Formats: sequence, C-alpha cells, structure tokens
Amino acid sequence: MTSPMTPGTIQTLPVLPLRNTVIFPSVFAPLSAGRPTSIAAIEAAAAREDKSLVIFAQRDPQKDQPASSDDLYAVGTLAVIRKMARSPNGIEILVQGIERVSLLRLEQTEPYLLARVQVLPWPEDSGPEVEALYRSILDTTRRILELAGTEAPENLRELITQQGDPLRVAYFIGSMLSLDVPKEQALLEAPSRLEALRLLYQYLQHELQVQELRHKIQKQAESELTKQQREYMLRQQLRAIQEELGEKSPEKAEIDELRQRLAETDLPDDVRKEAERELNRLERLPPIAPDYQVIRTWLELVLELPWRKETPDQLDIARARQVLDEDHYGLEEIKERILEHLAVLKLNPEAKAPILCFVGPPGVGKTSLGQSIARALGRKFERQSLGGLHDEAELRGHRRTYIGAMPGRIIQAIRRAGVKNPVLMLDEVDKIGRDFRGDPAAALLEILDPAQNTNFRDNYLDLPFDLSKVFFITTANNLMTIPEPLLDRMEVLRLAGYTPEEKMEIARRYLIPRQLKESGLQPEQLTILPTALDAIIRRYTREAGVRELERALGRLCRKVAVRFAEGKTEPVTVRPEDLPDLLGPERFFPEQAREALPPGVATGLAWTETGGEVLYVEAALLPQGQGLRLTGQLGRVMRESAEAALSYVWSHAELLGISPKEFRRNGVHIHVPAGAVPKDGPSAGVTMVTALTSLFTNLPTRKDTAMTGEITLTGLVLPVGGIKEKLLAAHRAGIRRVILPRENQKDLREIPEHVRKEIEFFFASQLLEVLRAAIPNLALREPEPATAAS
Ligand SMILES: Nc1ncnc2c1ncn2[C@@H]1O[C@H](COP(=O)(O)OP(=O)(O)OP(=O)(O)O)[C@@H](O)[C@H]1O
Ligand SMILES: [Mg+2]
Repeated sequence: MTSPMTPGTIQTLPVLPLRNTVIFPSVFAPLSAGRPTSIAAIEAAAAREDKSLVIFAQRDPQKDQPASSDDLYAVGTLAVIRKMARSPNGIEILVQGIERVSLLRLEQTEPYLLARVQVLPWPEDSGPEVEALYRSILDTTRRILELAGTEAPENLRELITQQGDPLRVAYFIGSMLSLDVPKEQALLEAPSRLEALRLLYQYLQHELQVQELRHKIQKQAESELTKQQREYMLRQQLRAIQEELGEKSPEKAEIDELRQRLAETDLPDDVRKEAERELNRLERLPPIAPDYQVIRTWLELVLELPWRKETPDQLDIARARQVLDEDHYGLEEIKERILEHLAVLKLNPEAKAPILCFVGPPGVGKTSLGQSIARALGRKFERQSLGGLHDEAELRGHRRTYIGAMPGRIIQAIRRAGVKNPVLMLDEVDKIGRDFRGDPAAALLEILDPAQNTNFRDNYLDLPFDLSKVFFITTANNLMTIPEPLLDRMEVLRLAGYTPEEKMEIARRYLIPRQLKESGLQPEQLTILPTALDAIIRRYTREAGVRELERALGRLCRKVAVRFAEGKTEPVTVRPEDLPDLLGPERFFPEQAREALPPGVATGLAWTETGGEVLYVEAALLPQGQGLRLTGQLGRVMRESAEAALSYVWSHAELLGISPKEFRRNGVHIHVPAGAVPKDGPSAGVTMVTALTSLFTNLPTRKDTAMTGEITLTGLVLPVGGIKEKLLAAHRAGIRRVILPRENQKDLREIPEHVRKEIEFFFASQLLEVLRAAIPNLALREPEPATAAS
C-alpha cells in the first residue's frame, strides 16, 4: 500500500460530509452529492492535482449544513476521486479511501467546508490474537455468505483467499455489512488492528445470528417444497437402480417412444424442428417438473395432427348424386347446388371449397346432409357444436402457459378427423355469443377465410396449421343472429321443412327401415298402413323436420319387437286405431283454421325457428279507451308495424268507408295469441291492417284466407321471408287461400307441387288489394283519379 500522505502530515482539504455512511481506507465507494456545499467541495477537490478531499460522517444525519467541527465525527478518511459524473440531481463520484485523518479544525464553511486535518498512522500491530481473530472473521464471513445464498463479490473472495493485510480485509467486510454509522465509525476509529478486528468479529457474530434465524424461517416455509424434493430424490434413486439393473426408466422409455414416433411421422420441416426442440427440452426435465406433462401432451398433439394426411376426393358426379339420393328424400334444389360445387372442385381441385351454411328448423336433415356430402366426396366427417360458445379461446385454444390449457375446438376436430381435409360441420353458428372474453365470431371469420386459414394459429399448438383443405359446413336455425360479416362469407342453403306427404315418403324410405333394423325386426314382420303413418305424422308429432317422427316410429317398432320376443309369430299390421295402444293418446289435434272469424280478426302466417305457424291477429275496440294497446309478446318491430297499421287505417278511413270519429272515441287493443311465443318481424303488417279494417267496418274476414307481408304507411305491400315455411304451415292448417306480396311470387318455385296446387294465391303490391281479397263485403270508395291539371 503506497500512501501519498505520510502519517503526521497536516493538510488543508475540502470536506465532503456524509449523512449515513463512513468511507474506509482502501475501499472504493460510489457516492452522490446533491447539497450545494458538497458539490462545491467536490469541484474544489477535482480542481486539485491529487484530486483528494476528506470525508467525515455527520453526527446528526438530519443536519443540512454542518457548520462546526462538532457536527462531524473527529476521525474521517482522506480519499481520492477516481471518477466523476454530473447527474440531474448533482454529482456522482467514485472515491477511494486512502488514509484515516483526524479533524483539527474547520477553516471555512462557505462556499464549502475546508478543514485542517492530520493523517493518522496505519495500525500495524500483530500477534497470535490478531491472527486468531482474523481467521475467525474469515470463517464467519464465509458462513454468512453461505447462509445468505448470495454469490460472494469477486474481490471479497479474492481478499479472503489472498490473506492480505487483515485491516484492509476488515475495512472491506465492514463496508459490506450495512452497519449503522456509529458502528462503522467505531471500526474506523479503532487505533489498532486488534481493536478493529475485535469490533468486526462482534458485528459478524450478530450478522451470523440474523442470517441463521432468517434461514430457519425460510426452511420452515420451504418444508412443503422439500416433500417434492424428497419425491424427486426417490425417483432419482429408482432411476439409478433401474439403470443398474439394465432397465429403462419409464420416462426414458416414453421419450424414446416419442422420438421414434417423431422420426416415423411425416411432418413439415418447421414443425419437426419445433417438435425436436421441445423433445430435447423434455429430456432434460425431471418428470415431476410441471412443464414435463405440458410438453408431453403438446408433443402428442403435434404427432397426432394430420399435417400432411389427406383423403383423396371422389369426384365422380354421378356417384355423388346417387349417394345424396340414397341418403335423403327430396331436397332437390339443395342437392343440385351441392353437385355444382363438386363439379367445380373436379374441374379445379385447387379451388377454395365454398363454405356452405344450412339453415332450417330442427330435424330437417342439416347434419345428416353434411354426413352425406362427406360420403359422396369420400371424405371424413367431423362435427363441432358452437352453441353457447362465448370464449374465443374455445375456438383458438389457450396458450400453453395456462394451467390445463387445451387446443381449441377446431384443432380438436381436425385431430379427431385424422386428416387435413375433412368435411367439418360447425353446428349452431347462430348460437355463438360474445362477451368480455373476446368475440368468437371474429375468430370464426378468420378460420373460415380461405385467404387466412392456410396459416391458422391455434394458441395452444402455437404452430401454423393449414385449414384451407377443410370443407366447412355450418348449420343454423336462424339467420338473424349470425353476424353480417360471417354470413357474407357463407353460401346459405335453406331447408324449410317437409309437408306431411314428404314426411310420409321419408318415413317409408328411410325412417321405418332404419327403425326396424334398430329394433331387430324383419321388414315382413311389421307393416304400418299409410293411414296409420299419416295419423302418426299429424296427431303424434308437430314439427317441420322428422326427428319426432323418427322417435315415434322407433317407439312403435320397439313395442312390436317386445311382442315378438314374448312369443308372437304372425306379422303385425299397424292401423290408425292401434296407435293409442302403441304410442299412447294422440298428442296433437291437426292445426285447423278457426271455424268462424268475428269482425276484428285476421289470419296471418309467421315464421319461427321451428318452422312456419298460422297465427291470428285479434283487434278490439276499447270504448272510452285511448291509443293503442298491444299484447301477445310482440317484439319491437312487430309493435311498430301495429302502429303503422293503425295509422294507415286511420289516414285512409274515408277510403275504407270508416267514420274518422271512431278513432277519437275509442282506443284499440291488438292481441296476437298462440302459445306465449315471442313474435317479431314486420311480416304481420298486412294482417294487422286487415284486422283493424275488419274491426272498424264491422265486416268479418274470410276464414279460409291467410296473409303475410310488410306494409308502408302509404299502403304498399313489401316482400317478406320464410314463404315456404309459412305456406307449409297454412297448408297443414287446411287454409286454401293465401295472400302474398307480389314480389314473393318467385318464391313459389320452392313449394312442393301438391301444396301449390291446393292453394289459391293472391299477389298484392297495394294494401287495398289485400283488403279486397280478405274482406268479401268491403265497399271501397275508390279515390278520385289524380288529374295532371290539379
Ligand atoms: N330428406 C330426408 N331424407 C331422409 N332422412 C331425413 C331427411 N331429412 C331428415 N332426415 C332424417 O332426420 C333425422 C334428423 O336430421 P338431422 O339430425 O340431420 O337434423 P338437423 O337439421 O341437423 O337438426 P338440428 O337443427 O336439430 O341439428 C336424421 O336421422 C335424418 O337422416
Ligand atoms: Mg343437426
């Protein structure tokens, strides 16, 4: 150690007072100065050739401006500035302590403290006691570092091993201990090595106790963990034993198997790379690590996913037509459209498959049609319901870092399919919700978008998967709740429901043979007479599709099968009168048109998710009442159309032969009964106008006539949807005259021939045409023809 200052020298130097620390000789310390006097002192020192100053600890750390020597400890350190940098808050310096100094007196206090100091001698005493203390100090320090679990600073370790000047080591350790100022000061002031080491040893003992206590507390907290560690140890031992015996550990065997599968599986390069990386990670993990299972399950998914596997398409159109006909009766138009798509696929195999959307009531064959398409194409079929889906993550999966994370439903379906080009039916797209967890419809958009889905990224899988070869078919009962952008992307095909005659055919060709087989009967053992079948359709079921019908037929077949099981031998023929015995009492009475309609009632046609329905709009005068009252669970659009209807009738009162006084005297109540079913939509407009006109003119409407159509205030009739369902319902109910908006005339193409033939149609573009057809005795006062001259 070379000190530039020989002990005993007296000097005058700038003073840096410190509030809460002591600088020891030979120790480096970073300091920051913010007080103007301190900054001035540093600047003065920096201006000196030797860059030195003296540092004293303050007796009272609160004191901002130490002004007399009493404010400072009497012993301080002569130090040299090694580095200096200005900061927004003042000056940062790195100093190195050189020698101890004692304060003789303060020479000045402004603009900075200047002190006269005398360099103190460096203690050099030695002896066995110093030696012993020094060793104990090194031991204790090591022990403390062990307990604290921290890496010893490089230079400390060096000092300890080098066994340099014990005092320097002591100063260094002292500066590391975060002692309070009086203790540090005492160490600095110690006049001999022995004294300094004794003090330090004392401090270290205390520190050791603190560390031991802390360690003990931590141990207790970790005892849970230790259990796991014990298990780990046991496993390690087990593994060692197995290795000794020449057996593979189960994990090793597992990893070997995964590695082999990985080698045998046909994977895209980037997927293989990622899988290999994860497998290597897996190998390094202990099996009890939480990540172990996560990686393993992920790897299995990657290995099972059909990255490259496809089934070859069967693009023989004639065969496809045959398959479609084999599986489903009727549905001609839809089958044609499907065949067209297949033809396109045949001509251009790279063409993006269209996304079909089958819309219709339950049980009309949407799902089974999808299966049939898969069969016709020779593709795998998978189904995934989206009903009640709220969480985007259900579609796209959760990141692997989540506990219990899984791939999303799309990837799950692909995995089940085992090929990358299945027909994937997404059921109930109209029933997906959205909430704070994100918008599944938006995710679905991306999944269905041929431009984006070649690189579909599931959060769990976290690798791009190509969905572009998937033939997506969605199904819905109702188009109204499907978000517009999603609807845009799909080609909508409607399955409206079947007439009783069509149901007869379906039952005869498909449902009865299937149910006979299910219940183990031979075809010749059971005959259901057409009259009986008709009764089942009309009196035991009420539905647009045929699901209930199939269930009823199944019940019937099982009942008959029981009889055979009980020893019956001759074939059974089911007649209508046998039905109560086999199926219980009739459940429905055929929907019938009402027998007579009093003035104020008109027959409407409604579309519902389960098919069409006949409904009656009833209007009544409320003497002394006011305004319009509406009941029958009407939605907003329907209420508005009732108001428009009333306004129309009122504003055309004279033309319709109604005294306008009527409206001032009475309120009106409109009720739409039928099953407390919520009803909405504009298509009851014409029915409301008819009911109101009938009410105010006191003339009844024809009971065999039903109508549908939206209205405008000026008396126009606008087209509406669901014509097929509505007509089938009217036909079921025995209604034989139907008034439709003129623009809906084109929809008659979809109506089965025999239904069309049995109904007389009226097409209206003006409300007056509707009224004339519906209210036989209405005497219209035709308006004056407008003249150009007026
Ligand atoms: N035109 C048809 N020809 C033959 N069978 C049919 C026809 N329509 C429906 N079916 C049969 O009716 C049953 C019900 O059909 P499916 O399950 O496909 O109805 P869905 O339209 O998917 O109903 P949901 O909306 O409730 O899912 C099936 O067994 C199906 O084979
Ligand atoms: Mg279905």
